[in-house]
Amino acid sequence: MEKPQLEKASALGYADPHIDELLKHSIRTQLESLLKSKVTTEQRVQLLQKSFVEAMTLVLSDTQVTHQQLVKAFENMYDQAVQSMALADLSQEVLTRQYISATGLVMSVHNCKHTIKDVYRIKGYARGIDQAIRGKLKNNSTITILYPACGPFAPLLLPLLSYYKNSQTFDSQQIKVILVDVQPGAVMTLKQLIKDLQLDDYILQIAEADATQFTPDVAIDLLVLEAMQHGFTKEGQLSIAKHLVKFLNIDGWMIPQNVSVKGMMVIGETEFNQQWKNVEYSHSMNVNNQAQQDRVELGEILRINKSTLLAMDELELQDGVRVISANQIVLPTDVDDMSKRILAIYAHIDTFAEESVGQYDSGITNPKPDMTFYVDLKPREVEHTHFVASSGDTVQFYYQLSGLTGFVPVKI
Ligand SMILES: C[S@@+](CC[C@H](N)C(=O)[O-])C[C@H]1O[C@@H](n2cnc3c(N)ncnc32)[C@H](O)[C@@H]1O
Repeated sequence: MEKPQLEKASALGYADPHIDELLKHSIRTQLESLLKSKVTTEQRVQLLQKSFVEAMTLVLSDTQVTHQQLVKAFENMYDQAVQSMALADLSQEVLTRQYISATGLVMSVHNCKHTIKDVYRIKGYARGIDQAIRGKLKNNSTITILYPACGPFAPLLLPLLSYYKNSQTFDSQQIKVILVDVQPGAVMTLKQLIKDLQLDDYILQIAEADATQFTPDVAIDLLVLEAMQHGFTKEGQLSIAKHLVKFLNIDGWMIPQNVSVKGMMVIGETEFNQQWKNVEYSHSMNVNNQAQQDRVELGEILRINKSTLLAMDELELQDGVRVISANQIVLPTDVDDMSKRILAIYAHIDTFAEESVGQYDSGITNPKPDMTFYVDLKPREVEHTHFVASSGDTVQFYYQLSGLTGFVPVKI
C-alpha cells in the first residue's frame, strides 16, 4: 500500500524530504495545540472568540498600541484558531498538499495557517475594510462581500466579523460574506472555525472552487483579496482580481483599492542587512534614511486597481502562456556603481481610504531581490534566465500570469 501512495504524493510534489519535515512539524503543532486545550468545549469557544475580538479591538483603536501588545494578541488569536483547525481533523495529505496551478502557487493549508499572525498586513486590511463596510452601509441596508483565496482562517474578515458581533456594531442582516478557497482543507477548517466563532449567520456561502473560475450568484459590493507574495510573485492575485472584478457592482469597491509595484536598484548589503541592524523589527516606520537615500528608484512597473484591471489586455504566447504588458522604465545613466547593484521589486498596498500595507510592513511587501537582472555587468556564464542590460537602455516589463507568476523584463 505504502509505495503507490508515496509515488502519488511525489507526483504532486508534496512528499520530498523538505515536506516530510513539515509533516512532522504539523503533527507536533496540532498535538501541542490539543494538549494545551485542557478546557471544556464551551471554554475553548469563549477563549477563541475573545482572542479574535481582542486582536481587532487593538487594531481598530485610534490610541497608541505597542508592537508587543499587537504581537501578543495576534499570537493568541493564532493559538486559538489552530485548535479549531485541529478539530477539523484534516488528513496529512489535505493539510500539506501544495502545488502550482495554471494561475499561480496554491499554498498548503499547513503553510497558510501562519498568515493570521501577519500583524501589520491584517491591520492595514482590517482598518481599510472596516471603513469600506461603514461607507457602504451608510447607503445600503445589506452588503455582500466576496473574499476569494481566503485561506483556512479568512483572517482579513473573520476577526472583524467577531468584533462586529461582539460589539453589536453590524449584524448578519447587514453583512453577507462569500468565502472561496480551492483547498479542501481550507474549506473544512473555515467551516469549523465559523461554527466555533458562531458567525454562521454572516456567511452566505463557502465555496471550494478556483477563484479564477468562480461565478458568484449575486452582485458584489466589496471584493477583498490578498493572494500575493513579495515582489508580486508566485501567487495568483492578478488573475483572481482580473476575473472577479467583473462581478463588482458598478459602485463596488475592491480592497486593496490600489497596488503599486515598483522597481529599484540597490546595494544588497545596505538594503537588506545594514538597514535592519539596529531596529527591533522590520516595518516601514523603521526604515533607515541613509539606506533609503542610497536606493536608485526605477519607478512604477505595474499598478493594479479596478480601472487598470478592467483595461488590461492579455497576450497569449506559445504553450498557452499568458502575460500582460506592464510599464517601461529607462535605466538611469548617472549612477557610478550601477554594476554593483541588484534589482529589487516591491509592492505598496493601499487597502482603503488612508489605510495601507507599506514596504516591510509584511512579508508580502518586502522588496524581493532579483539576482537574474544584470546592469552594466555580464554574468560569468550567461544562462537563459539572465537578463543583461546597460545604463540608458529601455526595459519593458511583462507580467507572467501562468504558472509561477512574476515579472519578465525585455530590452527594447
Ligand atoms: C496565503 S494563503 C491565505 C491568504 C489569505 N487571503 C490571508 O489573508 O491570509 C493563500 C490561499 O489562497 C488559496 N488560493 C490560491 N489560489 C487560489 C485560487 N486560484 N482559487 C482559490 N483559492 C486559491 C490557497 O488555497 C490558500 O488557501
